[in-house]
Amino acid sequence: MIFKQILILFLFICIQSSFSSSIIDIAFTVKNLSTNQRLQLNFFTFITSLFQHTSKDNLRLHVIGDSDSHHFVNQTLQNLHYNHQINKFNIDDLASKYEKLISPLIKHFSSGHTYYKDPLFFLSPFLHQILPENISRVIMLDIDLRFDNDIQELYKLFNQFNQSQILGIARENQPIYRHLLWLYRQENPHTNIGNPPPYGITGFNSGVLLLNLNKIRQSSLFNNYLKNSYLIEQLIHKYHFNHSHLGDQDFYTLLSFQHNDLFFILPCSWNRQLCTWWKGKGYDDVWDNYFNCNNEQNISLYHGNCNTPMPNRIINEKLEL
Ligand SMILES: *[C@@H]1O[C@H](CO)[C@@H](O)[C@H](O)[C@H]1NC(C)=O
Ligand SMILES: *[C@@H]1O[C@H](CO)[C@@H](O)[C@H](O)[C@H]1NC(C)=O
Ligand SMILES: *[C@@H]1O[C@H](CO)[C@@H](O)[C@H](O)[C@H]1NC(C)=O
Ligand SMILES: *[C@@H]1O[C@H](CO)[C@@H](O)[C@H](O)[C@H]1NC(C)=O
Ligand SMILES: *[C@@H]1O[C@H](CO)[C@@H](O)[C@H](O)[C@H]1NC(C)=O
Ligand SMILES: *[C@@H]1O[C@H](CO)[C@@H](O)[C@H](O)[C@H]1NC(C)=O
Repeated sequence: MIFKQILILFLFICIQSSFSSSIIDIAFTVKNLSTNQRLQLNFFTFITSLFQHTSKDNLRLHVIGDSDSHHFVNQTLQNLHYNHQINKFNIDDLASKYEKLISPLIKHFSSGHTYYKDPLFFLSPFLHQILPENISRVIMLDIDLRFDNDIQELYKLFNQFNQSQILGIARENQPIYRHLLWLYRQENPHTNIGNPPPYGITGFNSGVLLLNLNKIRQSSLFNNYLKNSYLIEQLIHKYHFNHSHLGDQDFYTLLSFQHNDLFFILPCSWNRQLCTWWKGKGYDDVWDNYFNCNNEQNISLYHGNCNTPMPNRIINEKLEL
């Protein structure tokens, strides 16, 4: 009898720990981190806020970057008592290995902007090939982010994907794609494409990506676009989408015009973008519809895009690392 109780207790503990110890794979790209102080501050905010809300033992970090940046990340993590090895990928090696696949994306989605010509901004569509097969899901992040909540809660959203959804991504919070689509929208006055939330196909911000790598590996639709650049050109032609320059998020946005059901829309509270560059540039009548996040009280993840400073924390907890 006692033996049975012990056995049940043992099973209970096993089940508990198998739930609590699920490893979360996180990928991010870094360049110039060892020399750029602004990036260093961003990275410090990013990593300390991440560790503050979740057990760092459950995180496996994949860092794509130059070797100086890897060194900086390694040092910072050592100072924060992160005890695992980081998984390092050299950006130049990846850029040359995937050059044939990446160069059409660079060509189409960095129009005129030298900064966004860096392969660094186009790697996320290839992460299912870059990471080993035994990694089935990964959260890919920009580093100008601050976590005000546990990343486990974000990871849980993978379970809400339906059959057709392979990638989770939040809407772009500014009317950028409305602007770029002016001609298509003029020709198609009843289109939903470029419209604001909650019903529009607004376009995406790729600062936070939930990549279901297994589903992406299996999606012939998605991989066909990567392998056959004429398919991308057809969409660019159809939507007159020829001025874009925001890296991978342009690719996902363009794809969503045609195949919206590939994408699970993340709540704005998990990628609360702060950039207001487009405010006062001709879209003030609709600005709020794009920019406001209905759940403003409970933002889980702030994104200080276009170098926007983070707001103060609502609860000023002591950092314990
Ligand atoms: C890295 O630094 C170089 C030289 O200062 C600059 O040209 C480049 O745009 C930077 N790249 C990124 C991604 O920050
Ligand atoms: C940092 O580098 C050292 C030496 O190569 C290695 O032992 C350590 O595991 C690395 N730390 C991380 C977090 O990768
Ligand atoms: C995944 O595969 C890599 C080799 O590709 C191996 O080094 C690693 O230990 C494997 N990880 C797990 C969790 O099985
Ligand atoms: C998944 O959800 C999206 C959005 O609600 C919907 O458009 C799509 O048809 C759904 N796909 C499947 C296979 O249920
Ligand atoms: C973009 O497409 C429009 C219409 O198709 C064309 O008038 C314009 O010249 C193109 N711009 C560039 C930079 O290719
Ligand atoms: C925000 O979080 C608080 C505390 O967790 C909760 O009571 C409240 O209902 C949440 N508000 C919204 C709008 O989700």
